[in-house]
Amino acid sequence: MMKTNTVTNDLEQFVLENTGNSINKWKHYFEIYDRHFSRYRGADVHIVEFGVCHGGSLQMWKTYFGPSARIFGIDINPECKKLEEENIDIFIGDQEDRAFLRSLAKTIPRIDILIDDGGHKMNQQIATFEELFPFIDENGIYLCEDLHTSYWEKFGGGYKKNGTFIEYSKNFIDYLHAWHSQNPKKLDVTDFTKSVHSLHYYNSILVIEKRKTVKPSCIETGTARVSKYKAKKKWWKKWFK
Ligand SMILES: C[S@@+](CC[C@H](N)C(=O)[O-])C[C@H]1O[C@@H](n2cnc3c(N)ncnc32)[C@H](O)[C@@H]1O
Repeated sequence: MMKTNTVTNDLEQFVLENTGNSINKWKHYFEIYDRHFSRYRGADVHIVEFGVCHGGSLQMWKTYFGPSARIFGIDINPECKKLEEENIDIFIGDQEDRAFLRSLAKTIPRIDILIDDGGHKMNQQIATFEELFPFIDENGIYLCEDLHTSYWEKFGGGYKKNGTFIEYSKNFIDYLHAWHSQNPKKLDVTDFTKSVHSLHYYNSILVIEKRKTVKPSCIETGTARVSKYKAKKKWWKKWFK
C-alpha cells in the first residue's frame, strides 16, 4: 500500500519539528520548493521573501540554504522589523507600492530567488512581478504562491476574471513562445522571451526559471530515412471545387 504523510525533504522536516517562530505554508509546497531550490543549498545565495508574518519561514530558508545565504524579508507590518537576526534583513513596505519596490531593487544587491508570499491580492502580485522580475539574477527563480486567490472574490479573484494573477500570467506562455510568432505586431520577442527558460505551474504556485535563451534551432542527424508520406487526394474533392 502507498504510504501517505511521509516527509518529503529537509524543508518539510524543519516545519514538522518547528517549535520556534510560527510558519504558515501549504503542505504540498515543500516538494516544489526543494525541486527548484536545492541547487542553491550551501551557496552564497540571496533569497527574498515577501510576507514575513512571524518570521518562521525566513528561519526555515536560513537553515535550508546554509550559513552563506542571505535572507531578505519584506512585510507591510512594522512589527516584523523585530524579527531581524544574523543573515536575515527585514524591510518594511507595501508590495503594491511601486516606488518602494524600485527602492528595494536598488538596496538588495542581487536576487537569486524571490518568493511572493505576501498579501496575495492581484495588484500586489502583479506590481511585485513587474517591478522585481527584471532584477532577478539571469539564472534565478521567481516563485509566486497561493495563486488560488486568483479564484477568490475577497482577494479580487474570479474564474477567468480580467486582472487576476492567473489570467495575467497566462500571457507568459505566449511570451515564452514569441520566437515562433508569425505576427510580430501582436506577439514579438521581448526581454521575457530572451530571459525565461521555463514556466512551472503547480496547484497554487507558479515558478519561473530564468536562463538566457536564443532563438531555438532544430537539428537533424543520421542518414537513414524513409520516403515522405504524401497525402492521397480525397476522391470526392473534385466534385466540390
Ligand atoms: C501568509 S503571511 C506570510 C507567511 C510567512 N511567509 C510564513 O510562511 O510563515 C502574509 C504576510 O504578508 C503581509 N502583507 C500583507 N499585505 C502586504 C503588502 N501589501 N505588502 C507587504 N506585505 C504584506 C502580512 O502582513 C503577512 O505578514
